[in-house]
Amino acid sequence: MGRPRTPWIAPDPAQLCMACDDIAGFAVRRPKGREAQVFPSPADSEQMKDTVRGRDVWPMEPRLPIADLARPIFSAVSDAIILCRADTLDIVEANPAAILLYGYHLNELRSMRLPDLSAEPEQTRKQIARTLRSGKTTRDVRTHRRKDGALLTIEASGTIFSWQKQKLLLAVARDYSKHLKAENATRLHAEQMEDALMGTIESISTMTELRDPYTANHERRVGSLAERIALELGMTAAVAKSLRVIGLVHDIGKIATPAEILVRPGRLSAQEYALVQQHARQGFEILEKVEFPWPVARAVLQHHERMDGSGYPDGIKGDAIITEARIIAVADVVEAMASHRPYRPAQGIERALSEIEQSRGRLYDTAVADACLTLFREKGFVLAEAQDQPLRSIAAN
Ligand SMILES: [Fe+2]
Ligand SMILES: [Fe+2]
Repeated sequence: MGRPRTPWIAPDPAQLCMACDDIAGFAVRRPKGREAQVFPSPADSEQMKDTVRGRDVWPMEPRLPIADLARPIFSAVSDAIILCRADTLDIVEANPAAILLYGYHLNELRSMRLPDLSAEPEQTRKQIARTLRSGKTTRDVRTHRRKDGALLTIEASGTIFSWQKQKLLLAVARDYSKHLKAENATRLHAEQMEDALMGTIESISTMTELRDPYTANHERRVGSLAERIALELGMTAAVAKSLRVIGLVHDIGKIATPAEILVRPGRLSAQEYALVQQHARQGFEILEKVEFPWPVARAVLQHHERMDGSGYPDGIKGDAIITEARIIAVADVVEAMASHRPYRPAQGIERALSEIEQSRGRLYDTAVADACLTLFREKGFVLAEAQDQPLRSIAAN
């Protein structure tokens, strides 16, 4: 009796048993589509009768003798499979994919040991052989050599199993170079994207500086100092890099401040000062639409906030100010005081550092202030250093 192509519904269990000569059992779907219950053999059990009545039943495929299947599977798989004696690592069998991959005839492979295929240094080969013989399952990316001398990057795994009282090693090798190529292409693309992002940030920064020549280099120098402070605080190179980026754009909101206020010598009126203060929020509004991998917009919004809540624009304090903004705040004050401004001459680095020292813990984060003081006083950092390292050169860090 042929097997039905569609599920049987409400079969008579007796009829099922008659139909099952050439099949291995039944899968029964439970009510409301719940998981199937499998009866591996169509024995006429009471439980099975109860279960199948009124439900969907599928005949299962007949069981196949697995030993007969091994040979065609061995030949058909696209990964290279090599069987060796586990004790000596002598190759005893290899599938067509292995022959194709390594370029040896089967008989040549049978006269070789598995380590002969490796192009790793002798020491590494011995280590690999020891690991394989110890019975541990291994999976590594290794360099192998084809018969024609070409090097192969291989993802190789090895497992020991017993067969007819012998211990055999099943080694599976897959050409990893395509995968590496794809990985390299993805990494290159990511680097290009990061380069483009960094280039855009530099252009934006240059635009701000062109509008306000008195603060030319200010953002660049703030970014550089902020990066060094982050490293001094033990932050990772990636986080430190984000500080450099934030520094480069932290005053971008000044693009909305009337130019005559920015460049006019002399003190600002209260009204003018209020206009300048808006640059923090305006910078946030410009940057919040850009999906940076770092909290650039928030740091820009908060870079004039102070730990005691006396800053602007929101007067937030303490932990409400993100670390990035606390670092930029210190770098910004140091750079601004040390440099010339339209309304006053440069006050010098010592005045700047004593401002940070006196207000550490009150206006400025204590750890950030200390890191900055250490940089200048103990590690010889000078702001001039901060000038011209192109941002793109750090993109690969
Ligand atoms: Fe600012
Ligand atoms: Fe600034």
